[in-house]
Amino acid sequence: MKKILFALAACFCTFAMNARTLVAYYSYTNNVKSIVNTLTSQIDCDVLEIEPAEKGLDYAADNYAIGSAQIAAIRNNPDNASSYPEIDPVEVNLDEYSTVIIAAPLWWSQMAAPMQTFLFKYGAQMAGKNIGLIVSSASSGISGVEADAHRLIPDGKFISPSLWIRSSQTSNAKSLIQTWLNEINYEALASIPSVTQYEDNEVAVYSLSGMSMRNLYSDFSNLPSGLYIINGKKTLVAR
Ligand SMILES: Cc1cc2nc3c(=O)[nH]c(=O)nc-3n(C[C@H](O)[C@H](O)[C@H](O)COP(=O)(O)O)c2cc1C
Repeated sequence: MKKILFALAACFCTFAMNARTLVAYYSYTNNVKSIVNTLTSQIDCDVLEIEPAEKGLDYAADNYAIGSAQIAAIRNNPDNASSYPEIDPVEVNLDEYSTVIIAAPLWWSQMAAPMQTFLFKYGAQMAGKNIGLIVSSASSGISGVEADAHRLIPDGKFISPSLWIRSSQTSNAKSLIQTWLNEINYEALASIPSVTQYEDNEVAVYSLSGMSMRNLYSDFSNLPSGLYIINGKKTLVAR
């Protein structure tokens, strides 16, 4: 039986945990999908695919008319939810992740519209998390996509640089991703969790994994392995 004594009175106690990474992606012609499949063979992560609610649209028809119209609608009115194309409902608990990697195609120098919809809905929940960005384009530079990501995740801790993979480089993604992961020191970065703070009358439990720790002070029996900072007036015993 493990006994852990928390002698509190404004002291901090820690023990080890794993931070988790979510890769959220959208892909129309499967270049980003292929990149994400490669990425998942290189890092331990969960994957979430964003899908437009309206099926079968040909975004490339008539010189990319539909995609162009969607991007224009967002550009003209970025704060209005109705500017964003509907996506299928997603089931994600962002509290579980300290790092989110967004992977999306570039459309007309912006982030593809369905991914913008996802971030419009969920970007605020990514505050304080490490945010990585992977962009696929035929040839255009990705600064507009980066600007979209910053607008939609205003309080994200952005990882620099983003990874830009041109369509023609898709088959070479493995080495490009590996170079990027080394460059951003992913291993160290992914092990530094985001901090979520919950407080109650007597004890503040700072969850470094981002999981809900509300009221845990009264019941440590279900406390998952992890790194926590406890700050309070009581002495707590976890068995
Ligand atoms: C609506 C639309 C607009 C696009 N606009 C651009 C563009 O402005 N510049 C560019 O280099 N590529 C553009 N592309 C090409 C995509 O960025 C590129 O093919 C990318 O690899 C697609 O990723 P995916 O296969 O995951 O959908 C556009 C593609 C679509 C469908």
